[in-house]
Amino acid sequence: MNSATRVAAVRRDPLANDLSSISAHNAAFLARRHKLLIDNEWTDASTGQTFEVRDPSSDEVITHAALGERADVDRAVAAARIAFENSEWSRMKPVDRERMLHRLADLIERNADEIAELEAVDNGKSIVMARHVDVKHAIEVWRYMAGWPTKLEGQTLPVSGTLVPGQEYVAYSHREPIGVVGAIIAWNFPFLLATWKLAPALAAGCTVVLKPAEETPLTALRLGELAIEAGLPRGVLNIVTGMGPTAGAALASHPGVDKITFTGSTEVGRLIVQAAAGNLKKVTVELGGKSPAIVFDDADLEAAIPGVASAIFFNQGQVCCAGSRLYVAEQHYDRVVGGLVEQARALKVGPSLDPAMQLGPLVSAVQRERVMRYVNEGFSAGARAATGGRAVDARGYYVEPTVFTDVADEMSIVREEIFGPVVTVKPFSDLEAVARTANDSIYGLGASIWTRDVRRVFALAPKLRAGTVWVNCHNVLDAAMPFGGYKQSGWGRELGREAVYSCLESKSLCINFAG
Ligand code: NAI
Ligand code: MG
Repeated sequence: MNSATRVAAVRRDPLANDLSSISAHNAAFLARRHKLLIDNEWTDASTGQTFEVRDPSSDEVITHAALGERADVDRAVAAARIAFENSEWSRMKPVDRERMLHRLADLIERNADEIAELEAVDNGKSIVMARHVDVKHAIEVWRYMAGWPTKLEGQTLPVSGTLVPGQEYVAYSHREPIGVVGAIIAWNFPFLLATWKLAPALAAGCTVVLKPAEETPLTALRLGELAIEAGLPRGVLNIVTGMGPTAGAALASHPGVDKITFTGSTEVGRLIVQAAAGNLKKVTVELGGKSPAIVFDDADLEAAIPGVASAIFFNQGQVCCAGSRLYVAEQHYDRVVGGLVEQARALKVGPSLDPAMQLGPLVSAVQRERVMRYVNEGFSAGARAATGGRAVDARGYYVEPTVFTDVADEMSIVREEIFGPVVTVKPFSDLEAVARTANDSIYGLGASIWTRDVRRVFALAPKLRAGTVWVNCHNVLDAAMPFGGYKQSGWGRELGREAVYSCLESKSLCINFAG
């Protein structure tokens, strides 16, 4: 094959993106060598080194990002500390902080299509989903959090003050920002997770150092550009791209950081908690899951079958609350497995920029290997793939949507987070038994119940040890609804009022006015 035909063959790869079609803005963005954002300046890593960023649909290097390390984290934390202490941000009039966060939300909205395109190229997720789920939800979260600065009230406290006789007290409490927040995020929803961490911290008046995932640093950098354009004061938002064990670990253990917030694996979550112990920084961790979806005999199967399919296949199954364990009332088992297989086979596999694509590549070659290792363990343990079970023969990191039946509770495919388009299905006979099986996990992030019987909802939902229980839906997130895990799925909650309050300290003021 001469070189001309080789190029033609490469161009015809139907599972790779055609990057010549992307917007001029993103083409220019990818052509740049990316830097760190420290104190509102774009700066190279102190070592001058960079790392490669790849398009998961083709395994091609699309750009380079700065390889930040400990010295860069030190610089970023110092900038965030000065910005916090000079208080231009933390003591800004609530209405002004609110206005600035809305200005950022406006800029994100104006650039939403380009952000979605960049996210698709960086992560491998569908450009349509990136626009209508990731970026749309992120805008809603920025707006929701922008509303908080003017609503952070304290309380007047009815103290009795009896310990020292003859004194009279008036006491009240209010909230103050916790200080410098370090945020370390995963690659499955890069722009959205950056938003989940930054929006409540900034609304609370904190300053932030963000470490994006090394697989997907690009939309966080774009967010940094827009934050500067919105007028965020110097040092309020700093972004250090780099690797977990170096840049991430330096941030988690940094004595100048007051709170660390993390999204990623339970394994690294444990390391974060240990690293945080040094200066006892406050910790929020949102970790893995193995969320059950439970289909009762009275469920509307026309809705439940596509519902449980999307619960696992959305975002290629790289969702912390993915419905990865499916339990079906035994009389409907064959029909639901059949329907799920049909749904899986109908998914259009394709590159992230194909608007018709329904299942894209996984984020990295490493992730594809991880998922295939689990799939092979499933086969070795005696599970049967009703469909799928193979990696796709392509340069991109594609794995077939896979439905495992004949599974047993002790198999690793049932117990461990696979983080790919792989679901296990098992029949059940009664509510008590399925509640026990659903809870038989170290995780407790989400669960869904599919039924028309409200009594079953109220009988089962309180028994489920999970941070979110969905009924006749799955993976529904909202800016106003707290999200997080029981058990080893995490500490604390994201979104809603709880996310803002987790970035605030409560201060009591006690005034003796006797004599
Ligand atoms: P990870 O937990 O290693 O990475 C998440 C973030 O933590 C990244 O920004 C990474 O740079 C950082 N990090 C890694 N090691 C660190 C350390 N020692 N100190 C501080 N920060 C560190 O996740 P990874 O390796 O990308 O994925 C492995 C598995 O973790 C996945 O297959 C999946 O099962 C699970 N995972 C779960 C997520 C969830 O949302 N539940 C998200 C991402 C991964
Ligand atoms: Mg890792």
